[in-house]
Amino acid sequence: MRQILVTSALPYANGHIHLGHLVEYLQTDIWVRFQKMMGNRCIYICADDTHGTAISISAQKQGISEEELIAEMSEAHQRDFAGFGIEFDNFGSTNSEESREVCHEIWAALRKADMVTEQEIEQLFDIEKGVFLADRFVRGTCPKCESKDQPGDNCGSCGETYTPVDLIDPISTLSGTTPEIRSAKHLFVQIEKLHDFLADWTQSGTLPPESANYLKNFFLNEPLRDWDISRPGPYFGFEIPDSPGNYWYVWYDAPIGYIGSTAQWCAANGEELDDWWKSDKTEIHHFIGKDIQYFHTLFWPAMLKTAGFNLPTKVHIHGFLNVGGEKMSKSRGTFIQAAKYLEHLNPSYLRYYYATRLSSKVEDLDLNPEEFVTKINSDLVGKVVNLASRTAKFIQDVGLSETYPDDGGLFETFAARGEAIAEHYEAGDYSKAMRTIMELADQANPFVESNAPWELRKDADKAQQLQDVCTVALNLFRTLVIYLAPVLPDIARKAGELFGEELTSWDQAQKPLTGVKIAKFQHMMQRVDPKRIGAMIEESKEEEETPEAPAGSWDDTGAHLEKDPIAEEITIDDFFKTDLRVARIVEAKEVPEARKLVQLTLSLGGDERRNVFAGIKSAYEPEDLVGRLVVMVANLAPRKMKFGVSEGMIIASGPGGKDIFLLSPDEGAEPGQRVG
Ligand code: 2FM
Ligand code: ZN
Repeated sequence: MRQILVTSALPYANGHIHLGHLVEYLQTDIWVRFQKMMGNRCIYICADDTHGTAISISAQKQGISEEELIAEMSEAHQRDFAGFGIEFDNFGSTNSEESREVCHEIWAALRKADMVTEQEIEQLFDIEKGVFLADRFVRGTCPKCESKDQPGDNCGSCGETYTPVDLIDPISTLSGTTPEIRSAKHLFVQIEKLHDFLADWTQSGTLPPESANYLKNFFLNEPLRDWDISRPGPYFGFEIPDSPGNYWYVWYDAPIGYIGSTAQWCAANGEELDDWWKSDKTEIHHFIGKDIQYFHTLFWPAMLKTAGFNLPTKVHIHGFLNVGGEKMSKSRGTFIQAAKYLEHLNPSYLRYYYATRLSSKVEDLDLNPEEFVTKINSDLVGKVVNLASRTAKFIQDVGLSETYPDDGGLFETFAARGEAIAEHYEAGDYSKAMRTIMELADQANPFVESNAPWELRKDADKAQQLQDVCTVALNLFRTLVIYLAPVLPDIARKAGELFGEELTSWDQAQKPLTGVKIAKFQHMMQRVDPKRIGAMIEESKEEEETPEAPAGSWDDTGAHLEKDPIAEEITIDDFFKTDLRVARIVEAKEVPEARKLVQLTLSLGGDERRNVFAGIKSAYEPEDLVGRLVVMVANLAPRKMKFGVSEGMIIASGPGGKDIFLLSPDEGAEPGQRVG
């Protein structure tokens, strides 16, 4: 029996759970339920991620304390998770005594290993609010191109990266006042000291191959950068014991919450924490999104290694959720909260739908509303539930046949597939598991069709035949339900009630059930009503700050020109000094040390390539960019940046963040063509 500790990323306590989050929690819950069915000792640990500036700001806005806010959110999160059948063994909080203790223990180990250094950092301080401002709470004029109203870390116009201190005329978005520069001591962890260990560990098979490859870049030429681990007070978090007035940055104590929450579970269940976190016999499995792999695959293992905790056995990394092929959007109503979904639709639908779309690859997942309806109605209701609803009622009085009838080898085929399906679950290839299960369902239904129990029941002489046919159909149904149980615990429970047993073990699929009475058939699942999806989307619609103009009425706002007036007149010759060219993005990579940047290789046709760093990561995924045509400034002087030389610039509009819009030439344009 394996001993397995499983975690999902800790949700921030300053927002509600939405369908995007649920990709991960459902994926994890399915895996945990599968492990439990296999007879493994498996616990599912999670907690709320409660510290940091964003939590303080939300609390302030609502006029409540941080503690009140995180208590309310914890309740709301747990209600939402329970609504989707997500069953944690412990759901804790990073703001707990257990977590604080582990923070201290790991800190002591980092100090002992001489991995902590101090540096003075200049930061903007909001005098009115009395807080140091994180990058995202400052806007101002870009020091490079002088575009107004740019974010604190990276210019949406020219792509320049900087710190908020470099901005011209910075403004705090918290108070609208001008912040002042203050210098403060920050503590840094030197993960470079574990360079060789991390270089090996990240390539040891613990990560999906895509992620392992991506991480290789970090170890190539430069040392790993020190990690800024502290924030000066006031800050909602734990004060650093040997550095009064300084607090651990939220990302230090967030993963430690995994251990803190386990400690709570251990205390409640008479277990030893060390048996789970400092023991060879325990496997640790983290489920996370691709956006936070940096923290889980570099900093986190460095901390664990230094303090003598178990290293993750496997980090399962998933992509993001799109809806209808596009990013979730508040204005389109596709940014759907978990609670809103539950007002309209059965949680089992989403559990199954996600399962049909999840694989072990780090790829985005699309929720397509039409396909959602078809999959539930034709797979689950049409092929699985119908097997029982069309047969159970005919043998309500007599129950299942005493001996299992000859079914032409169907049950045996079903039982034999159990191993392959289990392998797919184990590997996180749920889509393959679902496909295999539905292939079996496709064999069961013709059996019912051709034996037509509804005809047999009309003839009293055929009572035995009727019982046998229904016994076969219900056993095939039962096997399908066992295979689907990690995904559909609710259906497994209802089927269990029908057969008078609990369907909790994978092995139950190996032996047919005979000679037992069955309970009165209760409805198990209704078909999806597409109108409910429409209503849910309608009710999720929120006005974006700049609503899209309805087609045909181009009532475009004058706000942009007002904020950013047209520049001084130039001649056509001036214009042609800028050599704009069509270029194709032939490669796009994240820049590990710069969250906002994407490193692009642009082709101008033939062998002509340019390396360009563009500040567009907040709006575009690198993999979505490859192949597309853009417009570039081809004769810009090369600029040396921290990460390499940028040899040009691509053209985009928009203020930054999610609102960055790349300009693309119309179809037919070719790399190298001049634009003008
Ligand atoms: O990205 C997030 O939502 C973080 N709250 C995840 C933390 S995961 C872990 F490190 F705790
Ligand atoms: Zn700029």
